[in-house]
Amino acid sequence: MVLNPSSFWIQANALLRKSLTFQKRNVKTNIRLILLPLILCVLLVLLQNFIDTQYNTPEFKCGCVCPNNRKNCDDSEKLCGVQYSEDTQAVFCKIPNPPQWPPLLQLPYVYCKQNESCPFNMLFTAENQSFAQIVSENMFPSAPTVNSSDIMTSLASNVLGSESSPGANSFLEPGFTSGFPVYYLQTQCPQNNSGFTFPYQIEGKTFKQAAWKS
Ligand SMILES: *[C@@H]1O[C@H](CO)[C@@H](O)[C@H](O)[C@H]1NC(C)=O
Ligand SMILES: *[C@@H]1O[C@H](CO)[C@@H](O)[C@H](O)[C@H]1NC(C)=O
Ligand SMILES: *[C@@H]1O[C@H](CO)[C@@H](O)[C@H](O)[C@H]1NC(C)=O
Ligand SMILES: *[C@@H]1O[C@H](CO)[C@@H](O)[C@H](O)[C@H]1NC(C)=O
Repeated sequence: MVLNPSSFWIQANALLRKSLTFQKRNVKTNIRLILLPLILCVLLVLLQNFIDTQYNTPEFKCGCVCPNNRKNCDDSEKLCGVQYSEDTQAVFCKIPNPPQWPPLLQLPYVYCKQNESCPFNMLFTAENQSFAQIVSENMFPSAPTVNSSDIMTSLASNVLGSESSPGANSFLEPGFTSGFPVYYLQTQCPQNNSGFTFPYQIEGKTFKQAAWKS
C-alpha cells in the first residue's frame, strides 16, 4: 500500500483526537498518575527533614569549643576535634593527622610479673639451621633503644608485641589503647623484669603506656 501525505496527516489527526477523547474520559487516572511521584517526593522530603532534625544534636557531631573560652561564637569560628569531644562524639570527628603506631607482634596470653623473667618461645624453620640461628638472634636487639624525644618512632626499631587482638580500624591501636602492656622482646630474658612507661599523644590528648621486657 502506498501512503500519500494527505492520508497520513488525516490519519494522524484522527488518532490524536481519539487519544485526547480517551484521556479526557480518564481524568482521574491521569491525575493519579501525575500525583503519585509528587506524593513520593513530598514523603522523601519529610523523611529527610525528620532524620536531619533527629541527628542534628550534639551527640551526633564532633565536639567543638569557641576560641578564647568564649561561651558563644559563630559556627565558622568554632574549633572542632577529638580533643574537644566526648567519647560518643569522637567517632564523628575528622582526623587530619592519624597517629602512627609502631608494628606489634601478636603474642599469646603471657602473664609477666614485675621482677621475673617472662619467657616466650618463637619457632622458626630453616634449611640451614646454623644460618637461621644467626638470623633469628639478630632479629631482637639486646637492649631496647628508645629516643625520649621521639618515642613512637624509636620504638619501631625494637621488636614489640602485645596480647591484644587487632581492632576494626587502625586509628586506635588496641595494643596501646586497651590497657595491656606492650612487651619488647629480647633474645635473652633479663634477670629482673622492670618496665617503663612512656607518654604518647593522639590529637593533642596525652596517654600513658607501660612497656615490659619479654
Ligand atoms: C621489684 O623489685 C623492686 C626493686 O628491688 C622492688 O622495689 C619491687 O617491690 C619489686 N616488685 C615486685 C612486684 O616484687
Ligand atoms: C649454613 O650457614 C652457615 C653460616 O652462614 C655456613 O657457614 C654454611 O656453609 C651453611 N651450610 C650450607 C650447607 O649451606
Ligand atoms: C632523637 O630524636 C630526635 C628527633 O627525631 C633527633 O634529633 C635526635 O638526634 C635523636 N637522638 C638519638 C640519640 O638518636
Ligand atoms: C634490673 O636489671 C637492670 C639491667 O637489666 C639493672 O640495671 C637493674 O639494677 C636491675 N634492678 C634490680 C632491682 O635488680
